[in-house]
Amino acid sequence: MRIVKILIVVVLLAIFGGCLFVWSGSYNIAANKPHWAITSEVLEVVRERSIETRAEGLTPPESFPLPLMARAATDYAEMCMQCHLAPGMAPTALQQGLYPQPPVFHEGHGDDHDLREAFWVIKNGIKLTGMPAWGKVHSDDEIWALAQFIDYLPNMSPQKFRQLTGLSIMPEAGAHAH
Ligand code: HEC
Repeated sequence: MRIVKILIVVVLLAIFGGCLFVWSGSYNIAANKPHWAITSEVLEVVRERSIETRAEGLTPPESFPLPLMARAATDYAEMCMQCHLAPGMAPTALQQGLYPQPPVFHEGHGDDHDLREAFWVIKNGIKLTGMPAWGKVHSDDEIWALAQFIDYLPNMSPQKFRQLTGLSIMPEAGAHAH
């Protein structure tokens, strides 16, 4: 029975220590202070498995009609490129300041090759990262089209991007009012 008592005391001390650590304010929550490598690795597995598990059962639409894809291009320019950038676009303050960093799709970063996973992330967002849940105000069709659109970005020229999105000039880094 002695061992049980010791165990209980150890567990209580651990809980107390944990509470003390939380309350002390010594954890640095700053976005410019990266996680420890081990924390990043664990979070990465949590993220990957969470998304994979939820995206598995989804069925992408069979076709992407042209008007829907045209809408996706303008949606991307309006809602995504400040964080994920676009062909021919300089890094923004938002993209550089976020932690974790938003993947730059046209440079081939990100899991966008898996349509279902991209759809799930765009619809539901990712907690504590800055990636919003666009499903609150967009239909599933619009979100599938966005998931498909980001897949085209690595092979898209800046001219083509501007043409599709109707932008006459690309926003540059620092091109915002202070
Ligand atoms: C305010 C910044 C912000 C905006 C706006 C934003 N995102 Fe994100 N997005 C992020 C961040 C940060 C991540 C990375 C999260 C992580 O590492 O877990 C992310 C992740 C993603 C991913 C997952 C990529 C991967 O490799 O797993 C997809 C897909 C995505 N965003 C698509 C979009 C689309 C499409 C839009 C516009 C409708 C959009 N995002 C708008 C910040 C943003």
